[in-house]
Amino acid sequence: MTSTPRPLRKAVFPVAGLGTRFLPATKAVPKEMLTVVDKPVIQYAVEEAREAGIEQFIFVTGRGKHVIADHFDHAYELESQLKGSGKISELNSLLESLPSTGSVSFTRQQAPLGLGHAVWCGRHFIGDEPFAVVLPDDLMIGKPGALKQMVEVYNETGGMLVAVEERPRAETKRYGVVDPGVTRGNTTEIKGIVEKPDPEKAPSTLCVIGRYILPAEIFAILDKKERGAGGEIQLTDALAKLVGKVPFHAVKTECRRFDCGDKVGFLHANLAVGLDRPDIAPHLKKILAALPKD
Ligand code: UTP
Repeated sequence: MTSTPRPLRKAVFPVAGLGTRFLPATKAVPKEMLTVVDKPVIQYAVEEAREAGIEQFIFVTGRGKHVIADHFDHAYELESQLKGSGKISELNSLLESLPSTGSVSFTRQQAPLGLGHAVWCGRHFIGDEPFAVVLPDDLMIGKPGALKQMVEVYNETGGMLVAVEERPRAETKRYGVVDPGVTRGNTTEIKGIVEKPDPEKAPSTLCVIGRYILPAEIFAILDKKERGAGGEIQLTDALAKLVGKVPFHAVKTECRRFDCGDKVGFLHANLAVGLDRPDIAPHLKKILAALPKD
């Protein structure tokens, strides 16, 4: 790549899914607001994007998700009570986590027609710029964060990138799977991509996880609203149509991934993040050590 790619300033957070795997917890509370230790899953995703240089945060929401908007706004009564009672570090941590005024936008998907459709709903906020897509369900823990690691690759390659992870072949039916070309370090060229292939037909076991860097050209493809696996408008199918037209790479980040859209993955995330926290780890270790062995 000779010219420097356009800087990545915007990220779309598709949060319109119904979260049926987490019912009844997600009946009135969006799954993105479930907490890993003491922070909602969505806040980890926003912090990761911020660290990667993202300046504009676009949430694609659905009915019953207004609490996400409240979470990224001032809570004046709470803030003044914290101030009045001298809980200054709690107050400061709330204020530090607030995105700057005007940097957060919301649009509604209206009907959950698939991830591709959710991303398409953000098109007017993105315009003609490259942008990131961050799925908060995939909690990525690492330093630097997953999106920052991808931006480092993007600055070299430009074009389109997806984060990937090796998964057991039996699981390909749950993921987008790439047809890999040449690998250099943590980056692999992509020759093709397919959504939810049967294990025997999957081109590899390199599975796409919830981080993407995409060019605005993707919207012209998503405009067609073609249905794919499961009758949904799939983002992967739109990516497949850009193969050969823009540089396309898969990045294996050095982060740990926890699938917080899944109950076991969510519990795992709570344990792992708790064990990383000096204020919690000693207590948690005692509890874990006292558990029956099987
Ligand atoms: P999932 O496949 O996990 O679907 O979506 P879901 O509805 O959220 O959860 P379950 O399977 O019913 O438990 C992956 C990501 O794509 C978003 C979801 O919010 C999640 O971040 N999504 C999915 C949308 O925003 N809109 C859609 O139409 C589909």
